[in-house]
Amino acid sequence: MNNKWWQKEVVYQIYPKSFYDSNNDGIGDIKGITSKLDYLKNLGITMIWICPIFKSPMDDNGYDISDYFDISEEFGTMYDLRELIDKAKEKNIKIILDLVINHTSDEHPWFKEALKNPESKYHDYYIFKNGKSVPNNWRSVFGTSVWEKVEDRDEYYFHAFGKKQPDLNWENPELRNELYKVVNKWLDFGIAGFRIDAITFIKKDLTFKSIEADGVDGMAKCTKVSRNQKGIDVFLKELRANTFSKYNCVTVAEAPGVEYDELSNFIGEDGYFSMIFDFKYADLDVKSGSEWFKRVNWTVKELNEKIMKSQISIQKTGWAANFIENHDQPRATTKYLIENERNNDAVKMLGAMYFFLRGTPFIYQGQEIGMINFERKSIGDFNDISSIDQYKRSIKEGFDEKDALHFINLRSRDNARTPFQWNNKKYAGFSTKKPWLKMNDSYININAESQIGKKDSIFEFYKSIINIRQNSKYSECLIYGKIEPIQTSDKTIGYIRHYNNIKIYCFFNFDNNETEEYFEGKYNETVLNNLDCEFIENGKLRLMPFQALMFTTI
Ligand code: GLC
Repeated sequence: MNNKWWQKEVVYQIYPKSFYDSNNDGIGDIKGITSKLDYLKNLGITMIWICPIFKSPMDDNGYDISDYFDISEEFGTMYDLRELIDKAKEKNIKIILDLVINHTSDEHPWFKEALKNPESKYHDYYIFKNGKSVPNNWRSVFGTSVWEKVEDRDEYYFHAFGKKQPDLNWENPELRNELYKVVNKWLDFGIAGFRIDAITFIKKDLTFKSIEADGVDGMAKCTKVSRNQKGIDVFLKELRANTFSKYNCVTVAEAPGVEYDELSNFIGEDGYFSMIFDFKYADLDVKSGSEWFKRVNWTVKELNEKIMKSQISIQKTGWAANFIENHDQPRATTKYLIENERNNDAVKMLGAMYFFLRGTPFIYQGQEIGMINFERKSIGDFNDISSIDQYKRSIKEGFDEKDALHFINLRSRDNARTPFQWNNKKYAGFSTKKPWLKMNDSYININAESQIGKKDSIFEFYKSIINIRQNSKYSECLIYGKIEPIQTSDKTIGYIRHYNNIKIYCFFNFDNNETEEYFEGKYNETVLNNLDCEFIENGKLRLMPFQALMFTTI
């Protein structure tokens, strides 16, 4: 594929509620982001993705929008957003917003009108079914039935996520046009593009027939019948033609359910999007991302195979959006490193491993200082609606409360959503007021202030890998170069990046024992090493525990 501007970016994801609270109400805000632009510039990132900031009752923290054209009061004003975009631009940092167009909030005027007046055109903007009982056995992503009864009427509405998130009816052309206006208005406002939420859910199996149950509740995951369904291509092509294709923008889609052999439609040269997130290895610790009680024991070898399969499949046709964390995932340190979550060498090794894969790297707030999961002792300490649901489902499936709590402690989306740890003072310098979500106690030891400018810190390491990718003599190879998997020992992930005559071998030891690895050609020059020793001979090397080593060969 031809080189594109967005391939060069390093993206930083911000969960605005938890980044920085500028007005001390316990909730992060847009001005908070603006005030931390210097921090982000120093880190070296070039683009920011901000999770939803539009008006919302915040049932799913902004992924339930009640006004696409206004900003949620707790985050600030349109003026604040303008200021953020302008100030970021001065620092050569672009902004992308989160586009949630599979569903709205039940407090969106369209939905309110649809409920009030079933004859209005807005009724057909959503999916309603008449009947005296629940139309089918589909289970929503957040647990209960996808159907919610309309008060005082024998009617149900459809929601693939929470019950306060009714799905939009994409079969309606007028609704689709309204959504295109939303997209274009924000692109005209001066943002660089979008991360697009849950976009593979926009097409449903229109028979709405019950399917074989897959849980003790007698229900079945709705993803089988309302995600990436036949005919979705028509909507996605139309969406692109009416919006993104008219701008030089970037689009990163959350597109679960897309198989590797379909990738060219999604991210090929004329694909619907610039890139999509691949969740196949993010969810390797559970049987599925929506069943946290089905834990899976995984090995580094499997992780390696999954990553390489993903990379090779994407390389055939397009470009990857590489990540190890986001606002829906637990902290990568805890998930991938388990008992070594606080081992700085291991945290750096993990960071470098995914960062130099082929694609645009995404860093989630707090990842750059090695934030870890928390352990909550009570279900009352959780905010995330899917954690509360997973807790209830675990118990329904026969687990006791202790097990249920264990599952959600490991997987809760709140793990990533605790306030950013700026320093070791009260509330970690995030706010002077009690934050909206209970802090992670680790801030005493893990915080930005103690790492900035400190040689050997995780923050400085992230800064250095960004710098190597963006500004070194290896940049072209590390950005545009092809990726090729290599044979490694079971505890090591390895690949080669090559571009023209440059060949960079990359090895990452996930174990606390030494390993021996092999390579072809002659060692030339070290590109990256997270430790201060290296043992490289002709064609052979020894990796120390948790060592990340990258070098060129001739
Ligand atoms: C996406 C978002 C998640 C949200 C869901 C419903 O998966 O990343 O946070 O809850 O969509 O909008």
